[in-house]
Amino acid sequence: MYILAPSLLAADFNILGEQIRETERAGAQYLHIDVMVGIFVPSISFGMPLIRSIRETSGQFFDVHLMIMHPQRHIKEFAACGADGITFHLEAAENVQELIRQIHGCGLKAGISIKPGTPMEEIFSYLPFVDMVLVMSVEPGAGGQSFMPEAFERIRALRSYIDAHALSVKIEVDGGVGKKNVRQIIDAGADIFVAGSAVFKKRSISDNISQFMEAFKEKEGIR
Ligand code: DX5
Ligand code: ZN
Repeated sequence: MYILAPSLLAADFNILGEQIRETERAGAQYLHIDVMVGIFVPSISFGMPLIRSIRETSGQFFDVHLMIMHPQRHIKEFAACGADGITFHLEAAENVQELIRQIHGCGLKAGISIKPGTPMEEIFSYLPFVDMVLVMSVEPGAGGQSFMPEAFERIRALRSYIDAHALSVKIEVDGGVGKKNVRQIIDAGADIFVAGSAVFKKRSISDNISQFMEAFKEKEGIR
């Protein structure tokens, strides 16, 4: 089953609760929450208080993407404010195994993310221990960028490794994902699709999401 994870970064914060509920009603099972504090990436987004308050609005899986240094310092707090899964960056982690243990110890799913320029092989040894890999298909730090076509090959390589080793880790793709490329990304081997602009911009949220759902159904039918 394919999963859509709308990225909050592209939402209209004036009517955030309403927009989140609309994504949930339209079938998005995850909510992707990008945390940036101006160090690992230049931008600043939001953190615990926001997550805590939207937790009351939504029953979705809160998929927290930490684009921060020293992620180990904040795992407990993110767990306490309502995260269901925490993904950290390989490039920002001091002790990957310890971090995975810490996240699992809080009862959450653990994800590891990799920037476009980091060789994919660097995460292979961690795959038996994580629940998902977040493949960045743009440089992390901002919404609205274009999908980097090199990501297709990276997703395929990851899929082959996971299948060859009979692992159950999910592949999530983040950055520039939209209705135009979602089928191709599915074909490359992804399971979870982060989409900010493609969910919250242009047409209504429910229209946007129904296009993803159509693609998912079509591909699930031929799996
Ligand atoms: C980028 C973030 C993404 C971003 C995706 O650093 O990790 O989650 O919000 O936005 P779009 O879908 O607009 O590329
Ligand atoms: Zn993200």
